[in-house]
Amino acid sequence: MQTPKVTARAHTNIALVKYWGKKDEQLIIPQNGSLSLTLDHFYTDTTVCLDDNATQDTFILNGIKMDPTKVTKFMDLIRQQANVSTPAIIESVNHVPTMAGLASSASAYAALALAGSKAYRLELSPKDLSRLARRGSGSACRSIYGGFVEWKKGYDDASSYAVPFIENPTWDIKMIAIVVNGAQKKVASRAGMQTVVNTSPYYPAWIKQAELDLENIKQAILAKDFTKMGQIAESSAMRMHALNLSATPHFNYIEAQSLVAITQVEELRAHGIECYYTMDAGPNVKVICQGKDLQAILAKLKQHFADEQLLVSAAGPGAKIITS
Ligand code: PMV
Repeated sequence: MQTPKVTARAHTNIALVKYWGKKDEQLIIPQNGSLSLTLDHFYTDTTVCLDDNATQDTFILNGIKMDPTKVTKFMDLIRQQANVSTPAIIESVNHVPTMAGLASSASAYAALALAGSKAYRLELSPKDLSRLARRGSGSACRSIYGGFVEWKKGYDDASSYAVPFIENPTWDIKMIAIVVNGAQKKVASRAGMQTVVNTSPYYPAWIKQAELDLENIKQAILAKDFTKMGQIAESSAMRMHALNLSATPHFNYIEAQSLVAITQVEELRAHGIECYYTMDAGPNVKVICQGKDLQAILAKLKQHFADEQLLVSAAGPGAKIITS
């Protein structure tokens, strides 16, 4: 029998209503539901090939051999389901511009879930693929789908997965990633969010508000109400960062250049050009806007940032097999 070799591609996603905190750290069950937009510009290609002669996995990232421990832990979930113990060669290439400092774990684990499950001949439904990707990195469960995606928080392994909300939006939404600092983040999302869950006196209010934000943003997206969608997204992000400041010990991802970017967005808005910002577990700022305003916004941002710091994306597709 021929050794299975499968390549899959998955795109990154940016949350408009953020996931920030786990109920179950082992299974990665979130405290609140979230909603994201999958982006067309940034993606990961991952090839998985079973390796009959090996005693352990080989993991190559962007052409460099890496310690496979984390990837092996994830591959073991696939091997258990497939009832096969053969190791694999896993080769991943991140198509995220160098130094972009944008999280690639979402696209990475979504691509690995798809390529890995196919290589071990598991026929997983999109729902089960999403559950599997979730075990690598929570936000990865949303990268199984394109467009606007909701992660239904659920309460256990079986009930926590993403569903497409609007897979092929006809809306001309753009996202500009402003790379203010491409360095490795100071506080990993896993550690940061748990500090918040365990210590922030505001956490119960966050959960309540996040559920309201989720319902309201879904209505706004269905109604194509860009203003409402943008306002909710911006508030959700700022509340998440406020949680970090309220934790013990407190921590912060917002840097001086992040504030420069935020100020530009606020000035654009004051001049009637609609755009909103969001930030994740790092200092980079992402600007949500409509295609018709893109050039005006870029012109303003270019007064403060170099061309290579401004990366434009539109809505992107779900995870797919490239070759098998
Ligand atoms: O999936 P993780 O562990 O990388 O956490 C992602 C957390 C945020 O990006 C900040 C928010 C989100 O919902 O994606």
